[in-house]
Amino acid sequence: MSQLESCYNIDDFRAIAKKRLPRMVFDYLDGGSDDEVTLRRNQDGFSKYQLLPRVLRDVSNIDLSTTVLGQKVDLPVLISPTGQTCMFHHSGEKAVARAAAKAGTIYSLSSVSSTSIEDTAKASNGPKWFQIYVWRDREIIKEFMTRCRESGYHALCLTVDLPAFGNRERDLRNGLSFPASLTFKTALDGLSHPRWLYHYLTATNLDNANVKDSPQAAGTGDNLMEYAAKQFDPTVNWDDAAWMIEQWGGPFLIKGIVSAEDAKRAVEIGASGIIVSNHGGRQLDYAPSTIEVLPEIVKAVAGRAEILLDSGVRRGTDVIKALALGATAVMIGRPYLYALAAGGEAGVDRMFELLKSEITRDMALLGCTKISDLTSEYITSY
Ligand code: GLV
Repeated sequence: MSQLESCYNIDDFRAIAKKRLPRMVFDYLDGGSDDEVTLRRNQDGFSKYQLLPRVLRDVSNIDLSTTVLGQKVDLPVLISPTGQTCMFHHSGEKAVARAAAKAGTIYSLSSVSSTSIEDTAKASNGPKWFQIYVWRDREIIKEFMTRCRESGYHALCLTVDLPAFGNRERDLRNGLSFPASLTFKTALDGLSHPRWLYHYLTATNLDNANVKDSPQAAGTGDNLMEYAAKQFDPTVNWDDAAWMIEQWGGPFLIKGIVSAEDAKRAVEIGASGIIVSNHGGRQLDYAPSTIEVLPEIVKAVAGRAEILLDSGVRRGTDVIKALALGATAVMIGRPYLYALAAGGEAGVDRMFELLKSEITRDMALLGCTKISDLTSEYITSY
């Protein structure tokens, strides 16, 4: 049995990723901010809810398809944007975008990706969103919009929970730079991870690909906190977000909202979608877990925008809980990066296969056959 076939859940991919990646790279993927309380709470939050099955129903045909911002997807799980994906496996963003297209879902590319807007679009003709951080140089944003239009990206997604970079002490201790470069420490660690080191030295592209023609914005080997402090604009406010929504003129999501008040404001300025997210516990520690705040956000938005959720989703039952509480779909970050690190594109294919079969089985056990069946009648909290 291959290593991937012996993976039955996200934790199994994580265990392989931990062995395959140098410590500095694994910690960047796995870690959170400060004491990692929110990181842990994201997963714990899901366990505060229980599912209430109904029995003796015909569940022989289960349909996981749904629609997200006008786009049909084959399962309610989308790919969240993650920076520098080639760091985890040399096939990087292209492999994940292809795997998402095969699974019939949406891929979101990070603005700090290691593969450009254009190269990712060429690698996969599946539906794609593009995530935005706001550089101090606003021309970069306008240029992103033009490039996304030309490359056929369906939606833009503005990340709003990074006015300052989270305090990731694992990264500081490990000396992680941005874009990642081979330091003496990584080289030493790489020697015990020869496969990773080989690809790093021969094939891996760790440019800050979308801004690589701007030497200033591309990064100078600072640590991530220094890079973000120099480059990202902490003055960004609701007016800027409204400006971007207007400039783009298409589906626009705001990612990183955890309060009902902000969710209402996002709707008022014309956001078509809200991503309830605390950045996977990587930004403000002690921010609430996303599943716990989802119900009040759903209530405040009252159907005026679509609501997605990320941070902590690991199981089919997590997906079902989020949908039963009113999310249109969920997004995942670490799960697909663990799978990518464990087995490249085939790893991400296997992860989607497992998630699809978990959600299908869990829906059958719950007595639901389609996504629109998942309502609050199936969920209770402690
Ligand atoms: C970037 O968005 C990160 O969380 O490291």
